[in-house]
Amino acid sequence: MRDLLLHTAETAIDYLDDLNYRSVTPTPEGLAGLNEFHEPMPAYSMDPELVIDILHGNGSPGTMGMAGRRYFGFVIGGSLPAALAANWLAAAWDQCPGLFVASPVGTVLEEVSLEWLLDVLKLPAGCAGAFVTGATVANFTALAAARHAVLEKAGWDVEADGLFGAPPITVIVGDEVHPSLIKALGMLGLGRNRVARVPVDDHGRMIASQIPAISGPTIVCMQAGNVNTGAFDPAAEVCARAHAGGAWVHVDGAFGLWAAVSEQLAHLVEGVAEADSWATDAHKWLNVPYDSGLAFVRDEVALKSAMAVSAAYLPQGEHREPSQYTPELSRRARGVEIWAALKSLGRKGLAELIERNCALARRFAERLGAGGCEILNEVVLNQVLVAFGDEARTREVIRRVQEDGTCWCGPTVWQGRTAMRISVSSWATREVDVDDSVAAILRVNGK
Ligand SMILES: Cc1ncc(COP(=O)(O)O)c(C=O)c1O
Repeated sequence: MRDLLLHTAETAIDYLDDLNYRSVTPTPEGLAGLNEFHEPMPAYSMDPELVIDILHGNGSPGTMGMAGRRYFGFVIGGSLPAALAANWLAAAWDQCPGLFVASPVGTVLEEVSLEWLLDVLKLPAGCAGAFVTGATVANFTALAAARHAVLEKAGWDVEADGLFGAPPITVIVGDEVHPSLIKALGMLGLGRNRVARVPVDDHGRMIASQIPAISGPTIVCMQAGNVNTGAFDPAAEVCARAHAGGAWVHVDGAFGLWAAVSEQLAHLVEGVAEADSWATDAHKWLNVPYDSGLAFVRDEVALKSAMAVSAAYLPQGEHREPSQYTPELSRRARGVEIWAALKSLGRKGLAELIERNCALARRFAERLGAGGCEILNEVVLNQVLVAFGDEARTREVIRRVQEDGTCWCGPTVWQGRTAMRISVSSWATREVDVDDSVAAILRVNGK
């Protein structure tokens, strides 16, 4: 085991050392190696070191350079050194933190991380929290608590009796709602299509004055951080209107919630803490390895009612029992690397990470704008939308950027315009990476 793990660590370190000197996009030759994986199920055992060598030899060249400094696709954060190292240790521990009795360290690190997260994200102390796979499941988890609470108020026990015959729930979303939240609503039986959509402004922010009149069981879903523009729904106004009608307010803050850690950006999340539940990702802006999402719910009883599980062989004690808060029973100990990330960054380092990424996004916008590209959004956070002309031209430039391999950016359509999305989300990105990427983008645009 020792030799194998040392060998694997060396291999992984070599991979990371090489990452910023290779094409961010895997080359055609790199992708060709993936074909080697297609073989019949092996009949006999193989030496584990050889297994790792095959994995590295055929697999590493087929990776996208997401862990590197110039990956700007989707909202992808890279892994902080402490988080990656803690993830390795956690894999060696192989803990299942569903119950304290199953993993004392896994549950305690979640407990501590939860307290720290509520503190840095400026959410009410004492909220319940769930450590899940990502923001999709965090939305699902928090909305399950919302579903419980609004139906309980209407005299209905949804966990016991299901949704057949239940009082209808009105779900209100902004027109720029992320599709993962719509998916979560579908999984919860609340329907993907029966939502009321509130119009948004030019930045994608919900126009709160157009929230329909609220009566009966209602959940209002707002967004902190639009995946295209980075814009925030006006939380204070949304919460005031929704709460006046007795609704539950849920915030999808997959990456935007992290603005709260910075005094410079705190104005963006003004009023967010007045909501009832929140979803965010740790694998995005906290820069821990995939998969790591977080749901926070003000009403602990609502979350526990939605997620409760019990059996004689699952003893529950005095501690916070994580499986009472999450959809899963067995899962990996996500709190370990979240704790390590927060411990290594500290409050100051975390704020610097977020602010640095936002400053780099502004640098992108300024330099690309100066280079003749059209910036479609007001860069309030870490997202930049760039157009290079009409749809065909913009798609062609994106293709060339990806082929060039200096950096990676993906496409989107923003209010009818095809654009290239730049999301600066990694701890590792520096000014020189932005400058090199801008130079590459302008170079391929000039062809
Ligand atoms: C606003 C928003 N919500 C939800 C999600 C889904 O997150 P995940 O992919 O972690 O499930 C994303 C992903 O980018 C997002 O930007």
